[in-house]
Order: sequence, then C-alpha cells, then structure tokens
Amino acid sequence: MTANLTLFIILLVAIPLVGAGKLDGVLLAVVSLVTLSSFEAVAPLPQAAQMLEASLDSARRLFELVDAEPAVSEPDAPSKPPVSADLSVRSLTFRYEAGLAPALQGADLELTPGRKVALVGPSGAGKSTLLALLMRFWDVPAGTVFIDGQDIRSYRSEDARRLFSLVSQTTYLFTATLRENLRLANPDAGAGDFERALDQAGLRDWFVRQPDGLDTWLGERGQQMSGGERQRLSLARALLQNAPVVLLDEPTAHLDPLTEREIIHTLHAVLKEQTVLWATHSLKGMEWMDEIVVLDRGQVVERGTHRQLMKLDGLYARMWRIQNEALPPDE
Ligand SMILES: Nc1ncnc2c1ncn2[C@@H]1O[C@H](COP(=O)(O)OP(=O)(O)O)[C@@H](O)[C@H]1O
Ligand SMILES: [Mg+2]
Repeated sequence: MTANLTLFIILLVAIPLVGAGKLDGVLLAVVSLVTLSSFEAVAPLPQAAQMLEASLDSARRLFELVDAEPAVSEPDAPSKPPVSADLSVRSLTFRYEAGLAPALQGADLELTPGRKVALVGPSGAGKSTLLALLMRFWDVPAGTVFIDGQDIRSYRSEDARRLFSLVSQTTYLFTATLRENLRLANPDAGAGDFERALDQAGLRDWFVRQPDGLDTWLGERGQQMSGGERQRLSLARALLQNAPVVLLDEPTAHLDPLTEREIIHTLHAVLKEQTVLWATHSLKGMEWMDEIVVLDRGQVVERGTHRQLMKLDGLYARMWRIQNEALPPDE
C-alpha cells in the first residue's frame, strides 16, 4: 500500500462532498486529514501523515499526488446505499499481501442494530484490520462481509463507509477554530448541534472556559488540550456524524487509567442506544458489552459475555487477570 494509494482513497471520500457544494477547499484538506487519521488508525502511514500535517493548504498538493489506482474495486451496478447497519462477517480470511500470513482467518461476527460488540485480543490480533475492512479500505473476498444482507462489495465504497463513524487512538486537531474542527464531521450541523455534541462528549466544562466559544482558535493542532479532552472532541465529532454504527479503535490507548475510566463512563452513557463495535486490548468496560469476540492471531478463539468468558477461563480471563494485577486499583 503506497502513500499515493492512500491519498487516492482520501480523495474518493472527500471529493463527492466538494462536488455537492458542501465543502470548500480548506475543509477538503481538513477532511482529507481526518480521513487519513482514520486510516492511520488502521495502518500507520507516517510519511503521508507528516506531509499532510504541514498545513491546511495541502489540498492542491493532494491533487498533484494522485496517480494511483484505487485499492478497492467499485461495483458496476451499485446497490442502493444501505440504511440500517446490520453487519455480518462470515468466514473472513484476509491477507494484506499474497504470501503474508493472514491478518484474519475464518473470522465470524454479527452486529445487529443497537448491539454492542467488543473485539478484544492482544496487539496484532487483527482488530484494526477488521474495522478497516468494514470501512472498505481494502477489498474483502466476495461473500464474506454483508451489510443489510448484501455483499459489501455490491455497494459503492463511499456509501458503505458512510455507515460508520470512528473514534481511534489519535485525534487530529487542526490549526483552525473549534467550529471548523467540528464542522468537518458534519458540514450541515449548526452551532446548537456542536454545543450539544460537546456536552454529550463531556466537554461542557472545557467549552465554557474557552475565550471565544466556537470561534476559539485551537492553535498548533490543539496542543493546549489534554489527551482526554482531545479524545472527547473526537467523540463529539463521531456524534455529529450521526452514523448508524460507531467504531471505537482503542480510543483510550494513550490515556492514563483514571482518564480512561472517565472516558469509558462517557462512552457508556452516550452510546447507550447506538450500535457499537469496540476494538480494544484493554478490558475495561467489558461488562457493558452484549458480546465479546476474542481474536488471537487473526482467529476468533472465544466469544461470549464478560461473565461467560471469565468462567471459560481461557485467553480472555488470562488477559483480564494480568491487566487487573498490573494496573493500580480503580477506587
Ligand atoms: N498495512 C499493513 N500491511 C501489512 N500487514 C499489516 C498491515 N496492517 C496490519 N498488518 C498486520 O496484520 C496483523 C493484524 O494487525 P492489526 O489489525 O493492526 O492488529 P490489532 O489492531 O489487533 O493490533 C498484524 O500482524 C499486523 O502486523
Ligand atoms: Mg489496532
């Protein structure tokens, strides 16, 4: 996967918005960066990120760089965009390149609207890969991933991708106002929507301290925000997107245990009614999940509720014990 290919995918996402008159040039660059950051959540691309982070004016350069084929095939006669998100993954085996060991092997997963499913497992187990495949960053073999009963390959990739909002480990903030940093999640949203999303994400106290409200300049990529605040802003963006499925990819990975705990509380409260797929190696908050799918080296090795998996006394229970010994007590 080359950087150019990535940029191509970014543009595939962003250009339709420009075409629809919903995005100006600066915002295109911002959206590109956000898309890239989603992408980076699943496949680190430091070179591309460095280049793109340089400024909001990189849109022009983006266009110059596009010279590659798209990584996913688009259907000749696409299905109508999916409306609800009934996801079904069946015996999915995926290799990043021929000859490499499969990143996923025979994986199965069902996610029906309103359910909360966790995807847990050690680093390298294939969690982010599965999220990336759902978001159609790569092609899956035919007959392995279904949305609303139809093969994901039968949808235009942007239609499939629109089903998801993602909160990942890193939140990209841009040298722009708070309003612009939120608007890129939903160009149609207004001030009321922004404030509501900030409230829900637990940023009310932070927001009232900001000198210029929504017009507060976030400075050098929002460096004055704490890690927890940045993740909350990312959650606010995800809420503004209002997509049928929320994907969480280790959203608390870089936070201290106390902040992690607080953010998980917020996630529980705010995503109560939502359909959630949460990839994590940290087993905090698992009691909240309807199902936990345990991945190890690309294979689903266990599945069940927290209680069932503890009783099973396998990989999940082992991970849970290690983490609860290693971390300082919660209360
Ligand atoms: N872009 C990529 N190209 C090749 N291999 C990759 C790529 N991304 C991830 N992998 C490999 O796929 C496997 C699963 O990775 P990943 O899905 O990131 O695991 P997790 O999110 O569970 O830590 C790992 O062996 C990883 O090295
Ligand atoms: Mg990962």
